[in-house]
Amino acid sequence: TGALAAALGMALLSGCQQVRQSISIGDMSSAYNREIWWMSLWAIALSIIIFVGVSYALFYTVSKFRDDRHGAEPAQFHGNNRLEVALVVVPVIIVFGLSVLAVKSLAVVNNVNAEAPKIDVLGRQFWWNFGYPAATAAAGGVVTNGNEMIMPAAQPVAVTVTSGDVIHGFWAPNVGGQRAAMPAVKKTWMIDSDRPGAYQGNCSQLCGASHANMRYKVVVLEQARYTATLNAMQAYRAPEPAPGSAEARGYALFMQGKPSTGAVACASCHRVQGTTAAGAAGPDLSFFGTRRTLGAGIWEAMTEAHWTDEKAAAELHAWLKHSPVVKPGSLMPRYDGGEYLVQGKSVKGGTLTDTEIDDIAAYLRSLQLPAEADYWKGTP
Ligand code: CUA
Repeated sequence: TGALAAALGMALLSGCQQVRQSISIGDMSSAYNREIWWMSLWAIALSIIIFVGVSYALFYTVSKFRDDRHGAEPAQFHGNNRLEVALVVVPVIIVFGLSVLAVKSLAVVNNVNAEAPKIDVLGRQFWWNFGYPAATAAAGGVVTNGNEMIMPAAQPVAVTVTSGDVIHGFWAPNVGGQRAAMPAVKKTWMIDSDRPGAYQGNCSQLCGASHANMRYKVVVLEQARYTATLNAMQAYRAPEPAPGSAEARGYALFMQGKPSTGAVACASCHRVQGTTAAGAAGPDLSFFGTRRTLGAGIWEAMTEAHWTDEKAAAELHAWLKHSPVVKPGSLMPRYDGGEYLVQGKSVKGGTLTDTEIDDIAAYLRSLQLPAEADYWKGTP
């Protein structure tokens, strides 16, 4: 058990090696993590001193004053005013000292810098949308991206977190502490990282059937690259598919669905920047082809050939065909004609053929940022 506990501790502090992206609460490349780390160290050190002191006093007393005469009545004591006052005053001083430390750290983490880049975070069952309020797209509306967030390195970022339904928790441990995402409440605090790279984010509040399938990525970019990427996102308009191509057929299905079979249009729930698709019930798909995670992180395709290699293509196909089957509680319709649950009620999706699903996949893959704005490129 000791070895197991040690391994668990190592995994928590150093990040699990089997995931490509690091996840660690002890990531010292975030100033906010350092703040929380040093605050915790005081509390932990104090606890250790108190534990050792109390244990020592206990064993010393038991051993020194033990009385081996069985049956004889031990000496009786009543009250010790000085000791009792000390036992009240010392803990009060300790607790007060710890609360000063905690309040000081909270003040640092909550001190929102008006100049800092802003990111709006929306949690929904079971996905995330990240908006960049300073970046208004040429095609209208604010630039947003589903389940993958970019932020500049070596600069505190103000994240404003809210929820569209139940309480979720925004937590990417490498870039700062966790916060609840609450409906109708917008809470802003600061996160940061000195080290470019991709980091794992999670939902940290139990929120329903796919709470564990509500992950996201935080990609930290050098400042110049962050600005360039955001500019490219702003200028982006979804490419017009060539007439007669698979992408064009997919685009038509995406926009109109297939009313004859009851298949709902993707556009009624999703937004694609530069098209008339402006749905807000699902994640923004504008840069889907650049993204390397699917279904809020249930699948990752971390290669250059994301979504086109055989395994990833099969996952994308399965996702489009029957999302609620591969991800419990997903509100995306089933397109294989099967039934799925919406708010506890069984409903039936429409049907699309496998070819039609592949056409939609082809269209989604074509939604790519220019290569130089691929925020994944070069991430460790
Ligand atoms: Cu959202 Cu757990």
